[in-house]
Amino acid sequence: MTNKFKISEEWKEYNQYVTSEYGFNQISISTFIINMKNQLLKCGYKTILDLGCGSGRHSIYFNNEGFEVYASDINCHNIDKHVKELNITNINICEHSFIDIPYDDDFFDAVICTSTIHHARMYEIKRAISEVYRVLKPQGYFIFDILSDKDASYGVGMEIEHNTFIGSRQGEEDVPHHYTSERELKSLLDLFSNIKVDKSIYKLTDLSGNIYDSKAFEVVAIK
Ligand SMILES: C[S@@+](CC[C@H](N)C(=O)[O-])C[C@H]1O[C@@H](n2cnc3c(N)ncnc32)[C@H](O)[C@@H]1O
Repeated sequence: MTNKFKISEEWKEYNQYVTSEYGFNQISISTFIINMKNQLLKCGYKTILDLGCGSGRHSIYFNNEGFEVYASDINCHNIDKHVKELNITNINICEHSFIDIPYDDDFFDAVICTSTIHHARMYEIKRAISEVYRVLKPQGYFIFDILSDKDASYGVGMEIEHNTFIGSRQGEEDVPHHYTSERELKSLLDLFSNIKVDKSIYKLTDLSGNIYDSKAFEVVAIK
C-alpha cells in the first residue's frame, strides 16, 4: 500500500511536469499506433483499454476514431483534466495499477500500453502481462512498447534488480525503468499465440534540451 501511494505521488508530479512543459496537444501519435489503429479497424475491433494512459493522448485519439475507450492509470489526474478541458464525456476512466486490472475476463478487443510497462520491477511486469492476457478476448491484441537493453540510458543510476534501474532517465529519476531484450520479451509473452516484435528508435529531448535516440521494442501480441 505504501509503495503504491509513493509511485502514485511520483507520477502525479511527472504528469504535471509533462503537461506544463509540453502541453497535451504537442504530444504526437506514432506511426506504430496509427498502423495498429488501422489494423484494429480492419478486424472490426471496438473495445480498447489504454493502460497507463497518462495525459490520455491515445485514449482521445482512439475515441476520435470511433472506438469504445477505457482509460486507466495509477494516477488519473491528467486524463481527468484533459477530458474535462476537451469536453469529452464518453471515455471510461478508472484509476488502478496495471498489476490489478478491474475488468472481467475476455472483455477487451485490444489493450494499448505505451511508455509504461517498463516502469516496474519484473514481478509487476509479469503480473501486468498476465492481467492483460486475462482481460483480452480470444484473438485480442496487446499493443505496447518497452525499453530495450540497447538504449543509451541502460546502466545509468542504481540497479535495483537485474536490468532495472532507478535514476536512469532525466525527469523520471524516481521511477524504475526495466530494460529488456528480445529473448526476455518472447519468454514474457509465452501465453500469447502470435507475437511480433519490432525494434524502434525514437527521438527524445531531455530536460537540458539535448536530443537523443531512445531504443525500444514495439510489440503486438495476439491472445
Ligand atoms: C511516460 S507515461 C506514458 C503515458 C501514455 N501511455 C503515453 O504514451 O502518453 C507513463 C505512465 O505510466 C503510469 N504508470 C506508472 N506505473 C503504473 C502502474 N503500476 N499502473 C498503471 N499506470 C502506471 C504513469 O502514471 C504515467 O502516466
